[in-house]
Amino acid sequence: MKHTVFAVASALAALSFTPAQAEQSIVIGHSLSPTSHYGVGADAFIAKLEELSGGEFTGTQAPAGQLGGERDMIEGLQIGSMDVVITSTGPLGNFVPEVFALDLPFLFRGYDHARKVLDGDIGQELLAKVGENQLVGLAWTENGFRHVTNSKRAVKTPADLDGLKLRTMENKVHMEAFSGMGASPTPMAFPELFTALQQGVVDGQENPVTVITSSKFWEVQNHVSLTGHVYSPAIVLASPILMDGLTDEQKGWFDEAAKASAAATRAEVNRLEEAGVALLRENGMEVITDVDKAPFAKLAEPAYAVYTDKYGTELVTRIQNVE
Ligand code: PAF
Repeated sequence: MKHTVFAVASALAALSFTPAQAEQSIVIGHSLSPTSHYGVGADAFIAKLEELSGGEFTGTQAPAGQLGGERDMIEGLQIGSMDVVITSTGPLGNFVPEVFALDLPFLFRGYDHARKVLDGDIGQELLAKVGENQLVGLAWTENGFRHVTNSKRAVKTPADLDGLKLRTMENKVHMEAFSGMGASPTPMAFPELFTALQQGVVDGQENPVTVITSSKFWEVQNHVSLTGHVYSPAIVLASPILMDGLTDEQKGWFDEAAKASAAATRAEVNRLEEAGVALLRENGMEVITDVDKAPFAKLAEPAYAVYTDKYGTELVTRIQNVE
């Protein structure tokens, strides 16, 4: 009898602990392979979250656009069907217009400049703006400087872009930039891109070395020109529906996990900026490295008005002035 009472009491005690200790599994969606720079970032997020929470939270990747394109995944965060997403800013300006400022061509002078802007006051202010739009911006991370690839010809000057059907992200700043530079921009979600290149629906695309390598675009593209025409930031986003249900301590774990994710992704971007070009050549691509960027930048200038006509020049000037 004594034993039975003890057993029942223990079972009740165990039950009363169950909700607090129940393991919650988080899914992190992104568009690239599990071993890409986003995949590395997703793994770092999961490892840090599991470590800080003592296993209360676990995580898995949903890579390669399994859960949709970047726009779809952002919408999923807003309605709570997604937990965490690593995405470029490509479609984000359609939800948080101020973010379009980061997508302006030839705005950032290099990785140091871009990372300083995103890690400083401007980055924090933009994360706060993201938070006003049914999303939680956990941390800025990175995709890299974008370059043009195509299956038709080596692009050395803007004249070589003339009439090229070029897939762009669903981003009106990028589209205006490419119209200015003479290409025919065709917006398309990333999951459709490989097949579109294979079937000749578009002649080319533009993405950082990180993406060109992890997506094996050498299977469908012959030429890459290191135009570095725009820096492509990325962001770790969470669903407000998930985050609103967390304690402050748990929210802190997510913040730290996102920081660890960004650091791991940037390290992988650095590595591929060094090793990636050789990989492209090994896989048969012609790589044009001596691109004179000035004429491309001049022709891309009309893209600035897409942002400044509506939101003014203040943020752009502040970004330019960060040393
Ligand atoms: O080209 C894009 O859509 C993006 O750069 C990508 C590859 C999905 C990474 O964010």
